[in-house]
Amino acid sequence: MFAYSGNDFYCEQVPLADLAAHVGTPAYVYSSETILTNFRAYDEAFGDLPHTVCYAVKANSSLAILAMLARAGAGFDIVSGGELFRVLQAGGDPAKVVFSGVGKTPDEVEYALGHGIHAFNCESEAELALIDAKAERLGVKAGFAIRVNPDVDASTHPYISTGLHQHKFGIAIQEAPAVYERARRFRNLTAEGVSCHIGSQMLDPAPIFEALEKALALAAQLRAEGSPIRHLDLGGGLGVAYHQGETAPPIGPFIEKVRERLRACGLTVVVEPGRSIVGPAGVLLARVLYRKRNGAKEFVIVDAAMNDLIRPALYHAHHEIVPVRKNSLPPVTADVVGPVCESGDFLARDRRMANVMPGDFVAVCTAGAYGFVQSSNYNSRLRAPEVLVEGAGYRIIRCRERLEDLVRGETL
Ligand code: LLP
Repeated sequence: MFAYSGNDFYCEQVPLADLAAHVGTPAYVYSSETILTNFRAYDEAFGDLPHTVCYAVKANSSLAILAMLARAGAGFDIVSGGELFRVLQAGGDPAKVVFSGVGKTPDEVEYALGHGIHAFNCESEAELALIDAKAERLGVKAGFAIRVNPDVDASTHPYISTGLHQHKFGIAIQEAPAVYERARRFRNLTAEGVSCHIGSQMLDPAPIFEALEKALALAAQLRAEGSPIRHLDLGGGLGVAYHQGETAPPIGPFIEKVRERLRACGLTVVVEPGRSIVGPAGVLLARVLYRKRNGAKEFVIVDAAMNDLIRPALYHAHHEIVPVRKNSLPPVTADVVGPVCESGDFLARDRRMANVMPGDFVAVCTAGAYGFVQSSNYNSRLRAPEVLVEGAGYRIIRCRERLEDLVRGETL
């Protein structure tokens, strides 16, 4: 929960100016209350319909956040062995893990089988063969779902749209019945479910329901043909409001509609939300270093850059930027840029915003998802710390990197 009280911007009961002064900038700050509220909105809206909310670890994989979600009962959607390691470190239950992704390596498959994950969301027949061979060697049974590509347009940014047949993801839904049929010859595999995920940052959930209908029809057909099929995995993708005044589909009513549609289907429902749980729960705090003018253009130069938050540079994503303490100056129109040496290093362009001055702190909003996880050491910049606010207190859940961290593992 982020809001102004008077002129000061707060995360829960913590004034962010105080936090920034203590922890330094740039820094990611998360509200534990918002994360839990969003997770529970999913969990509770399912009511008594059997379900698992598998949080998409890729959105924000901090151990403290994973641990908090694990305690609240979450399962996890992972896309690498590294993410499974994090889930295990955080105390997550491997029996509630689904493993997605087009390029699982043999080592990753073995690692996941060794920990008894719930299911693999498989994206090719070669992958099924690999999992079967590995399961045979380990003497275990592997649950799988085919990730079907329903050829539904998610109407979102092309880089994060995944459900059309030109995308690399999934197996065309028309081919799926034959693939499930052929998979019966793999003695170490169990057809646990049907899965799909059509894209991210969807502000209109209609395409998710379109995909749901197709996946549900497939599950019914497979069951009629004698497949065990116990779950339907709808993926993630619900969008969040990045622009002030924009409205995102609320989680509760969305899931209630899913619940009503699937009430009588006899399947456990799995969802894999990431952004809608953590996105609105985080900000990136930065300090204004300089102001400058080049011709007609006004620049606000801050100490956070594209290496800290790449979404504006990579997807032309919009993040609101607000002052941590309001002043009474008239607003300006400026580019908010960082110290990285390229013109693509911007957090906002031609933005009507508060007239912040050197030394002031700003908050780059809605940065809890795909923020820190996509950060890098580009320009040999130290990665920012992460801070978790809990009511009136906060703790550093990841330290700011030090210079020695930059060269760890390197030799002359
Ligand atoms: N499940 C699968 C199989 C996925 O590929 C994704 C996201 C999710 C679940 C979670 O989707 P969400 O609920 O977060 O929309 N870096 C990009 C977003 C990439 C999303 C990739 N897949 C960004 O910053 O917008």
